[in-house]
Amino acid sequence: MQPAGPRRVGRKMNRIADEQKRQNDHSRGRWDRYAPHRGRVTRLLADAAPPHGGLCVLGAGNSNDLDLAALLQVYDQVHLVDLDPHALQSGLDRQGWGDTERIRLYGNVDLTWIADRLAVGTPERPLSDAELDLCAETMAAHPPLDLPSPFDTVASVCLLTQLIQCVTLSLGERHPRCVETILRLRAQHLGLLLELLRPGGTAVLVLDFVSSQTCPELPQVPESHLFDKAVELISRRNFFTGVNPFVIRHLFESDPALTPAVDSVQMTAPWLWDFGPRVYLVCAIVIRRKATAPRSPDDR
Ligand SMILES: C[S@@+](CC[C@H](N)C(=O)[O-])C[C@H]1O[C@@H](n2cnc3c(N)ncnc32)[C@H](O)[C@@H]1O
Repeated sequence: MQPAGPRRVGRKMNRIADEQKRQNDHSRGRWDRYAPHRGRVTRLLADAAPPHGGLCVLGAGNSNDLDLAALLQVYDQVHLVDLDPHALQSGLDRQGWGDTERIRLYGNVDLTWIADRLAVGTPERPLSDAELDLCAETMAAHPPLDLPSPFDTVASVCLLTQLIQCVTLSLGERHPRCVETILRLRAQHLGLLLELLRPGGTAVLVLDFVSSQTCPELPQVPESHLFDKAVELISRRNFFTGVNPFVIRHLFESDPALTPAVDSVQMTAPWLWDFGPRVYLVCAIVIRRKATAPRSPDDR
């Protein structure tokens, strides 16, 4: 069954898109396992809903972390965006919403703008400095996404780590410009959340920031101790590069590229996401956009 709404067609698959698709194919069957995580994410998005609003979810993938029925109770429209169109479609079908006009799918959307370029490089044969400079320029001057923005709520669901993975797949973690490229990508993603929001709207940035791979005791930590555990892990620098939630919260509070549009920033208590092969420590940053659009320097 075809979902209603605009679809993207046939961008050529590349190594990075193939890898994301492979990961989505692997995790597709984990609906039951995701239930507590899905409950947390869905509640956060539902709590942000204004009457008759529209929600845009970036990195929706299989939608295993979204209870679409619950979201459609509080949003008039739900827009799901991902690189992997097959994951979007099968997620919708799984939850039985394949024929509603209230959910729109946007597949083959690259939220880095540089996945095609990055896909050409490998850690053994990385992109040249000139190509990396071009990546930086492309991210900074990205064309607007072909989405019906602004939205009342914009969510990014455990997407930032995947965007960063696009960089590490291409350059390798030891490349001298890897961290710089990750930080540029992060800055662009944080800006994108605000760009897609209407004044007064809410962005929910869900971040998986460390896993049981480097913290084997994580699955046994009681919920009431997770915040202290997060602080401990971060102080020992045991977290994914570029995804320290305290730093990201601080950026929304202090980065001149973001703060003019920001009304308030809150970080939720962390929770565990049982992914199957690993358990992730996750939290969300909830950002309220100012009710009035920031004045441009030309208006002064
Ligand atoms: C961890 S998954 C999110 C979980 C997902 N909501 C689910 O329940 O299956 C991250 C998603 O980001 C998508 N993604 C990775 N790189 C992307 C990119 N450059 N542009 C858009 N989406 C991307 C992947 O295809 C994947 O579906």
